[in-house]
Amino acid sequence: MDSTPAPRTYRVKSFGCQMNVYDGDRMAELLAEQGIAPAAAGEDADLVVLNTCHIREKAAEKVYSDIGRLRREDGSVPLIAVAGCVAQAEGEEIMARAPSVKMVVGPQAYHRLPEMIRAASEGRRVTDTDMPARTKFDALPKRRRSGPTAFLTVQEGCDKFCTYCVVPYTRGAEVSRPHADLIDEAGRLVASGAREITLLGQNVNAWTGEDARGRTIGLDGLIRELAAIPELVRIRYTTSHPNDMTQGLIEAHGEVEKLMPFLHLPVQAGNDRVLKAMNRSHTVESYLRILEQVRAARPDIALSGDFIVGFPGETEAEFEDTLGLVDTVGYAQCFSFKYSPRPGTPAATMDGQVPLEVMDERLQRLQAALGRHQHAFNRASVGRTCQVLVERKGKHPGQWLGKSPWLQSVHFTGEVRVGDIVDVELVEAGPNSLGGRLTPPRT
Ligand code: SAH
Ligand code: SF4
Ligand code: F3S
Repeated sequence: MDSTPAPRTYRVKSFGCQMNVYDGDRMAELLAEQGIAPAAAGEDADLVVLNTCHIREKAAEKVYSDIGRLRREDGSVPLIAVAGCVAQAEGEEIMARAPSVKMVVGPQAYHRLPEMIRAASEGRRVTDTDMPARTKFDALPKRRRSGPTAFLTVQEGCDKFCTYCVVPYTRGAEVSRPHADLIDEAGRLVASGAREITLLGQNVNAWTGEDARGRTIGLDGLIRELAAIPELVRIRYTTSHPNDMTQGLIEAHGEVEKLMPFLHLPVQAGNDRVLKAMNRSHTVESYLRILEQVRAARPDIALSGDFIVGFPGETEAEFEDTLGLVDTVGYAQCFSFKYSPRPGTPAATMDGQVPLEVMDERLQRLQAALGRHQHAFNRASVGRTCQVLVERKGKHPGQWLGKSPWLQSVHFTGEVRVGDIVDVELVEAGPNSLGGRLTPPRT
C-alpha cells in the first residue's frame, strides 16, 4: 500500500443544487479545522473533493472526466475524494472505474472525512455511504465566516418519489433539522456578516420543528422567528413542493416584510396525465390555485419553476400544455431540462421514451417562451426603485452587482461596499439582468 503525506491544502468543487454548495462549504470548514488550508488560486491542491450531482446523466458522467483531469503534468495525482450524490448512488462503481479515487463519501456521511483522510493517507481506499441516525450537522464545526448572502440547510431528503428522480435515493428520507440548531446557526451566520439567508431543502417547505415553547411549527414559523433577528435583512427559501405549500407559508408572504417576494415552485409539466405519470401528486389546476393565493398575499411576487420536457410518453399536445401553462403563469425565471433516464427510477423503464431530437426541439421552444417571459418581467421592473443587496464587484471599473428583492441581478456604479443594502432605481432591462442607478437613501 502506498502511503502519502497528510494533505496540507485542499480544494472542494461542488456541482448540482444549492444544498450541494452548502455541503461543499461545510466540508471546507471541516477541513480547515483539521489544519488543512485552501489551495491558492491556480495552484494544485494536495486533496481534492469532488462534490458531485447525480440528477441527470450528464452531471453524473462529469465526475469521471473531472477525475481524469486531476492528473498533474508529472503524472502524480492528488488525494481524491468523491462526495455528494454520485458517491451515494455509484460508490462501488467509482471505486472500480477510477483507481485514483481514494475516498467515496455520501452526502450524509461527510463529517467523517477527517478519519477517512487519515486512512487514505495510509494507503487505504475507503467508502462511507451510511445514512446515520445522528446527523452530520452535529459533528460539524460551528459557523464562523459568512459573506452577505448565506445558505442554511434546514431540511434534507425527499419522500415524494417522482418517477424520474434520484434524490429520494441519494439523499434519503425527509429529515428536518432541529429548530434550536437552526436558530443557533442562523445567529452565527448573521454575526459573521450574513444579511440574507436562504433556507434550503430538497423540499424545504416540508420542514417542521418544535419551537422553544414546545409548539410544533412549520417553515412559516421558522421564517417569522428568523425575521426577528435585527441584522438579518432578507430571508429566502428553496426548493418547495406544491403539496407542502401551507396556508401559513402563503400568508407569511403577505406579512413578513423580510421574506423576499420570490417563490420557486417547480411544476415540471403542464399536463395532468404527464404529472400523474411523474407521480407529482398535484394537478395543473391545484398548482395554479396555489399561485393565485400566493399572488393574492403578495401581489408583486416573482414566480419561478422547474420543467422537464420529453418525459416518457409525452406527446406533442401534452408538451403544448406545458407551453400554455408557462404563458398563463408568466414566470420571472425558470429552469428547464431534457428528461434524463436515471438508473433505478421507475420512469427509466417506462414505454414511450422520447427521441433526443424531439426533446431538443421541445426544450428550445420552451426556453424561448421562458426567456420571453423573463425579459418581459425584467422590462416591467424598469422604473421601480428597490433595495439591492450588494454582493460583489462587477466586470467594469466602479461597477457593483447585487440582487433585487425579486432575485434579479442588478448592476450599477457608485460608492458602496459589499454587504450594503442600497436603493437603486432600475433603469434598463436585459434578458438576464437589469441596469440600475444608485439613488440617495430616503430619510
Ligand atoms: N425537490 C425539487 C427539485 C429537485 S431536482 C422539486 O421537487 O421540485 C431539481 C430539478 O431537476 C427538478 O425540479 C426537475 O425539474 C429536474 N430533474 C430531476 N430529475 C430529472 C431527470 N431525471 N431528468 C431531467 N430533469 C430532472
Ligand atoms: Fe425529486 Fe420529486 Fe423529490 Fe423533487 S419532489 S426531489 S423532483 S422526487
Ligand atoms: Fe444533484 Fe444531489 Fe442536489 S443529485 S441536484 S446534488 S440533491
